[in-house]
Amino acid sequence: MIALDINGKRQNVDVPGETPLLWTLRDELGLTGTKFGCGMALCGACTVHVDGQAVRSCITPISVVANKKVVTIEAVGTDSVGKALQAAWIDVGVPQCGYCQAGQIMSAAVLLKRTPKPTDAQIDEAMSGNICRCGTYTRIRVAVKQAAAKQGGAR
Ligand code: FES
Ligand code: FES
Repeated sequence: MIALDINGKRQNVDVPGETPLLWTLRDELGLTGTKFGCGMALCGACTVHVDGQAVRSCITPISVVANKKVVTIEAVGTDSVGKALQAAWIDVGVPQCGYCQAGQIMSAAVLLKRTPKPTDAQIDEAMSGNICRCGTYTRIRVAVKQAAAKQGGAR
């Protein structure tokens, strides 16, 4: 049994320690908001937070996150930054097919918590590991800035 803290809830899962966090979230815990894209840490679709860092869950063994705080897209809106990002995403109409967007929001949330007033260059750098095949990058930048402004930190 591996003890986990997922979205503020303590849970035990009975999976081999090398099982990727992504599959534990999706298949064991029913948290399917986190997506599988490449499985090789190349696309960002599977991004979650582990102790406040943006982590690619497809390559993160479950044993590594035991007793760490994992937050997924299902709970990102429980704090003000996540809430502001979700509202901005809707307002700007960021998603196209939507597949990459959970990962995009998770990366944006880490950016805004660290850098409340990001410049275009800081946004582009922080989001560079999140690929969008629909090319929503311009709208992502607008939405991140709008969320930053709502938090009192636009440039
Ligand atoms: S599925 Fe994890 S980075 Fe692509
Ligand atoms: S919205 Fe389709 S891949 Fe990003």
